[in-house]
Order: sequence, then C-alpha cells, then structure tokens
Amino acid sequence: MSRFTSLARAKINLFLHVTGRRDDGYHLLDSLVGFADFGDKVTVSESRGLHLAIDGPFSSDLHVDDDNLVLQAAKALQSWAENAGYEADGASLVLEKNLPIASGIGGGSADAAAALRALTTLWRLTVPIPDMHEIAVGLGADVPVCLSSRSRIMRGVGDVLEEAPDLPPAWVVMANPMQSVSTPDVFKALRIRKAASPPHMPDHFATVRDFGNWLDASTRNDLEAPARRFASEIDAVLLALKTSIGVQIARMSGSGATCFGLFESEKEAKMAEATLRRRHSEWWVTAATLR
Ligand code: C5P
Repeated sequence: MSRFTSLARAKINLFLHVTGRRDDGYHLLDSLVGFADFGDKVTVSESRGLHLAIDGPFSSDLHVDDDNLVLQAAKALQSWAENAGYEADGASLVLEKNLPIASGIGGGSADAAAALRALTTLWRLTVPIPDMHEIAVGLGADVPVCLSSRSRIMRGVGDVLEEAPDLPPAWVVMANPMQSVSTPDVFKALRIRKAASPPHMPDHFATVRDFGNWLDASTRNDLEAPARRFASEIDAVLLALKTSIGVQIARMSGSGATCFGLFESEKEAKMAEATLRRRHSEWWVTAATLR
C-alpha cells in the first residue's frame, strides 16, 4: 500500500512588521519567514473516505473535528481533484503533533501544507501552481508560505510571497513557556501607530552575526507587545534566550508565545537547548537548523 510522509516544518517569523489593516479586519504584513528543520509529520495512505488520527506529544491538545486544518486541506484538495477529473477517493491521514499548538510557529498552517503535499503525491495529481496557491490561501494566511517551507518574504495578508535574501547556515533554539496564545486576540490588541516603511534588506548575509545584527538594528516583531498581555512569560523566555552563550538575536515568532534564539553553531545551540530544558522543565525547547 502506498504511504507518504511530509514534514510540517515550524515556521519562524525572523521579523514581522504590521503595515496596515484591511476593512475585513485582516492585517497587512511585511515578514521574513524561515523554517526550522523540525516539525509535525503528516502521513497519508490509501483509504475510502477521509480519516484523520492524531498522535505525538501534543496530540491531546487537538481534536479531530471539521475545524481541523488537515481535514479542511484534504477536503479542499479532494474537491479540486474531482473538478479536474481525477479520482481522489479518500485517504487515511495521521498527524504526529510535535509542535505546541497556538504557539506562533505556524503548526496548523504547516500541517495543512504538509497534507496538501502528501495528498498530491498519493493521489498522483498535477496541480497548477496558481490553483495550489488559491487552495492554500483559502485555508489560512500562513499556509501558502508553508507549502514550499523555505525562507521567503511574506507580504499582503501573507498571500504575496517574494524571494528572501540568501541566509547563512544557522541554528535556532525555539522556546515556548506553554502558554497558548490566540492569534486573533493578539491582532485585535495591536495598536498600529504609523505605516512603517519596509526595511532596506541586503540580498545576501555573509555570516549569522551580520544577519543577527541587521535583524536587531532594522526590524522587530510588532506582535510582541500585544502578545505579552496574553502570555506573561514571554519576557522570561526572551531573557533566557538572550543570555545564552553564542546567541545573535532573540525574538518572538508570529503571534507568540514561542520565541527563538539565532545561533551560528550547532554546539552553542545544543548547549542553550540543554540549559533552558534543565532550568525550565515546564517549557518546550527545541534546537534545529534554519532554512
Ligand atoms: O489566516 P489565519 O486563520 O491563520 O489567521 C488567524 C487570525 O489571525 C485571523 O482570523 C485574523 O484575526 C488574524 N490575522 C490577521 N491578519 C493576518 C493574518 C491573520 O489579522 N494577515
């Protein structure tokens, strides 16, 4: 029986500027996104009808219902396939939930994108890029960028993707205090002060130090301040990352509460991971390469 697994990499907003708000309430963004080589896993195999099972360390925080983005992704792709004349009978999907939910690293969006990739292979579909993009946009603002899962600049409400600068090989340490944060609540609490002009972005960073210095001097995450109102431990997480040996920059990702530290070397990243885990056993902490 055919079976395919796709890795739903954690998404990291290296910076996230909110540049405006549309009449429908969605916000306009300017964000450089990277992906950690760590995430959930979506495995699909042949079956009649669509079935989803969830396992993994964070499976108890999620329910299999119609709101589940993996099922929504499967249904959207199935209906595209049927309209295009394919037979896409069904699939059995297993989601291995390794990322904390509602944590600003795009777990749900990455899962939906991984389901789209895996089912495209299982059902042997050739989906034109604009059609796949439209399916992804319909599932959530972060789903398009998660489809390719490599660094990109995200504009519009997340639907406009542009080439990112060349990033040097780097490590990230992701840390979450296990306080889940609602993205709509954080956006609602945000006060947009002025239309920020986009930062001048070099097209190449030679070293992680250069990259970290530029992020620190020219960019920010505008959702950090409103997110603090919902997850008071964000400051403690940032402090722990900022005081780790070898860290180039520490910042919150997305709407939080996960924060990341950027490192040049595996050794320093693994050391920071071990120290944070030892000092804060209740936190979720994971080191991974960034791409
Ligand atoms: O698109 P997604 O379902 O991931 O977004 C979750 C919520 O985050 C939206 O319902 C909206 O309240 C907020 N959001 C926003 N502007 C964006 C993306 C998300 O206001 N660009």
